[in-house]
Amino acid sequence: GLVAFPTETVYGLGADANNDDAISRIYEVKGRPADHPLIVHIADLDQVDYWAREVPEYAISLMRDFWPGPMTLVLKRNEAKDFITGGQDTVGIRIPAQQIALTLLKEFELLGGHGVAAPSANRFGAVSPTTAKAVEEEIGERLSETDQILDGGPCLVGVESTIIDCTGEAPRILRPGAITEEMVESSTRLQLRERDDLIRVSGALEKHYSPEAKVFTEGDVEVGDGFLALADIPTPAGVIRLASPNSVEEFARILYQSLRDADAKGFTRVKVINPLGPGLAAAIRDRVARASR
Ligand code: TXA
Ligand code: MG
Repeated sequence: GLVAFPTETVYGLGADANNDDAISRIYEVKGRPADHPLIVHIADLDQVDYWAREVPEYAISLMRDFWPGPMTLVLKRNEAKDFITGGQDTVGIRIPAQQIALTLLKEFELLGGHGVAAPSANRFGAVSPTTAKAVEEEIGERLSETDQILDGGPCLVGVESTIIDCTGEAPRILRPGAITEEMVESSTRLQLRERDDLIRVSGALEKHYSPEAKVFTEGDVEVGDGFLALADIPTPAGVIRLASPNSVEEFARILYQSLRDADAKGFTRVKVINPLGPGLAAAIRDRVARASR
């Protein structure tokens, strides 16, 4: 069966990472192409060597500094099958920092499991869920009686984990998130490699994280548009403010729910004023750019 569960980033749709049938149901429920790799969630560092091999020193440093946490490491695969890796010779793994998730993973390990593969619990291309209710809205009617949704309240980070490719001489960030470039460089004492677009990261597809409403960052607003910006930016006349986050952290936390609210309220357009600066602000700009394609 499947279990949707909270993490600190977004809700995941999980299944036994060694069970081909269960994993194929994830793809079915999400409507996701089968060659897209999944992240394996593990309870503790003991499980790393089961899934990955030739783990470099700098990756161990990242694990020590940021796990449990919003960081996924892409490593050379060991036991990970093609139905997890999308046929690539690498595997993405992470230890989430969320009590319910960790309890689930530990209980599963006690039953003999090695890890829970989980993509974000949304339909392919749609906005990632950050509450159990949003999971229900996204995929509820596609789940069966034996599947479950665990409710852990709203996610604390709100955007997906930073994905770091650890298969080369130095780390390379494939998807920005709450673990920032600066944090990675200071943990590893290495300069990051530049990202190229050859590696298959589905979040890197053109259109992703998209609500029904048209999201835009440039150009004028019209009367009746939705509006999302930091609290210190005034609301233009005639538009309806979706949220007023007071910090970049809060912006990340409310971003996806605000886009969902826009759809629920029937907005056809949403103007987003992106936060400036590095780190988590860059992760927000990345998601907003993809949502707006
Ligand atoms: O925060 C997160 O990472 C959430 C929570 C549930 O953990 N999960 C998540 O999963 O965002 P998903 O499947 O929506 O996005 C995972 C991304 C995909 O874009 C996938 O292509 C990439 O990770 N990925 C997974 N394994 C990979 C690998 N071996 N090489 C390159 N990219 C990989
Ligand atoms: Mg996703």
